[in-house]
Amino acid sequence: MEQKPTLETITALAKRRGFVYPTSEIYGGMTSSYDYGPLGAELLRNIRNIWWEEMVSKRPDVVGLDSQILLHPQTWVASGHVEAFTDPLVEDRVTHRRYRADHLIESWLQENPDAEPVEVEGLDIGDMARLIERLGIESPEGNPVTAPRHFNIMFETAIGAVAGEKARVYLRGETAQGIFTNFKQILDSTRVTLPFGIAQIGKSFRNEITTGQFVFRTLEFEQAEIEYFFDPEQTKWQTLFEGWKETMWRFVVQTLGVREENLRWRRHTDRERSHYSHETVDLDYAFPFGYKELWGLAYRTNYDLRQHQEHAGTKLEYTDPYTGRRFVPHVIEPAAGINRFFLMLLCDAYWEDADNQRTVLRFKPSLAPYKAAVFPLLKNRLELVQKAREVFDLVSPEMATTWDDRGNIGKRYYYQDEIGTPFCITVDFDTLEDDTVTVRDRDTTEQVRVEVSELVGYLEGRIGRRCLC
Ligand code: GAP
Repeated sequence: MEQKPTLETITALAKRRGFVYPTSEIYGGMTSSYDYGPLGAELLRNIRNIWWEEMVSKRPDVVGLDSQILLHPQTWVASGHVEAFTDPLVEDRVTHRRYRADHLIESWLQENPDAEPVEVEGLDIGDMARLIERLGIESPEGNPVTAPRHFNIMFETAIGAVAGEKARVYLRGETAQGIFTNFKQILDSTRVTLPFGIAQIGKSFRNEITTGQFVFRTLEFEQAEIEYFFDPEQTKWQTLFEGWKETMWRFVVQTLGVREENLRWRRHTDRERSHYSHETVDLDYAFPFGYKELWGLAYRTNYDLRQHQEHAGTKLEYTDPYTGRRFVPHVIEPAAGINRFFLMLLCDAYWEDADNQRTVLRFKPSLAPYKAAVFPLLKNRLELVQKAREVFDLVSPEMATTWDDRGNIGKRYYYQDEIGTPFCITVDFDTLEDDTVTVRDRDTTEQVRVEVSELVGYLEGRIGRRCLC
């Protein structure tokens, strides 16, 4: 039977094995901030590369972009973020600690299962105030809290030596705005025609109030967004929307290898939807703390391009090459978080093998941080070490490979299982005689002998995918 890991189990494994560390831990850490260690960096890179490969490199209708984190501050005025990018904040009246109202209500409801059932997603600030009042919800310290108020989560900073209104800039709250502000440049400098998408992967920043969900919600995180522009007179938005839903589902299930039973769609209520969106659905994953958004899909109409057109005084129109009609295109936006993919993969791959008393991260081999580990059976026998080095040098140019000569073979298997390495290759005394190695499969623990000359082909066949990037 599949066991669901707790968030504590995942956090502990991630730290123990070098996937994720608390940021600045030697100084006591920093709220909602994490660094990715050697294994985490590899896994993140694989996720990014595979997303880019599927969504950009392989598609004739999507081009890439890499815009700045600091954009002209008017960008965020035009987009509505300065005005409306807020979370509902309450404050403990005694300790003055701050909490996100919807999250406070959710955890109160979890701790009070006999209370009336409430669908918290989609409540507006007035509903939350009434609910807090009616149910007598208090802070985790047991104190009364203030009524919720809107708290803007854009991060402010300043350019140059002089602080002040003119120098104020924002760390981007979404990668999307860099796409909208480059729309005209891309139209003028490339050969794109509608419908087409502009994709970008990069860091975004939000002054999040809630803490304690590991890398699910952090102050600094990586987004992978596409703005897919189209002519609403030629294409129905509903058709594109459904097409993107299928693409997103397929990517998570087939490309990332995530179990379908852990996924669901959730439609935003009218009150919950962002100010720019006409329709939004979330692809949710069943994280250890419940179903939560992994990947959002929104129909942003032509709100953003119109806003920038107005604020910048520059036309952001497309000219139909056949009819000459000029118009501001509409957009469908699939917006994912690379760090949420990462956490989902750790949770979904986690497996405790009761028979063999081992913990395994059963990543799809193409995503695993290391595809292969090479061991000399004994590290103090020069001839084994030399031969194992030869095998390492043969495999490592073709795939991410690690070397391990610490402890005995059993301990090495145990460690490689925990970091999700799909194939362990052992060079033993038979290797010196017949030029074959033992290849051990992470999931079945089965071992086969493979000729060194056929090893790379064998592993590539089992991994089943070669990354283009
Ligand atoms: N451009 C639309 C947009 O930014 P969003 O739903 O706010 O929409 C898109 O964010 C994705 O970014 C989310 O689905 C999530 O995966 C990721 N994300 C948002 N806030 C995050 C945070 N604080 N930490 C980690 N990932 C986050």
